[in-house]
Amino acid sequence: MLKLENISMTVNGNNGENREILRGINLEFVPGKLYAITGPNGGGKTSIAKIIMGIYQHVSGHIFLNGEEISGLNITERARRGIVYAFQHPPRFKGLTVGNLVRIANPDIDNLILRSTLRNVGLCPEDYLDRDVGPGLSGGEIKRVEVAQVLARDALITIFDEPEAGVDLWTIQKLIGIIAEKYLSNPDSIGIVITHNENMLHICDEIILIDEGSVKAIGNAEEIWPLIRDDMECKMKEQCRGEVVYEL
Ligand SMILES: Nc1ncnc2c1ncn2[C@@H]1O[C@H](COP(=O)(O)OP(=O)(O)O)[C@@H](O)[C@H]1O
Ligand SMILES: [Mg+2]
Repeated sequence: MLKLENISMTVNGNNGENREILRGINLEFVPGKLYAITGPNGGGKTSIAKIIMGIYQHVSGHIFLNGEEISGLNITERARRGIVYAFQHPPRFKGLTVGNLVRIANPDIDNLILRSTLRNVGLCPEDYLDRDVGPGLSGGEIKRVEVAQVLARDALITIFDEPEAGVDLWTIQKLIGIIAEKYLSNPDSIGIVITHNENMLHICDEIILIDEGSVKAIGNAEEIWPLIRDDMECKMKEQCRGEVVYEL
């Protein structure tokens, strides 16, 4: 089980003062379940993922993995314990091919599985296996490569940060099916998907709504989706307030 206990985090704001971007986050993730983290942009979803992965450090609180406090462990040590994160904005690796990047992620991967993993994210292996993971790939392509190399592993905890971004609708549906198959009811692993995609939310066991650095609600899609919809309508009205409307 992964447990976040009273996690808070601050960053340096524009005026040089500390700005709290996560406050008092309490969450529990149990094996065999697929979780969604959703909520407005800037709410703190990616920061939670980076805190779990050890990329960001929290200022207070604790993280426990199967009862062991892992707050003091670095990224490599957490990866060794089976935590994997697919970045919202993946890094590029000039000089490394797509095929070799996936082989580094899973050195035991069978060639046929490697090819089908690429196909699953909408990348034709014939075209992409030998492509350089450098500036020659578009944002959408690099995103798919990132998702593929994470799907290729059998991690204890897998976090996808907006895997649908830059992926066409047809591939999103396929990806939802693959994530469901791989992480739903898999007794050994925890899947966490940061997403705005309604269909993705509907396959998850539990949805965590994050806004303004706090957990606003936890529930299933039927409970949470109306809150998201109402919030979106409310925010759109706020944005429109004071705006000049031109009549044609
Ligand atoms: N490294 C950082 N330095 C400064 N501000 C940050 C940093 N990371 C995140 N933030 C700020 O924290 C807030 C939450 O960001 P983030 O976790 O990326 O939100 P989300 O993923 O929900 O869109 C935003 O206001 C963002 O600008
Ligand atoms: Mg984000």
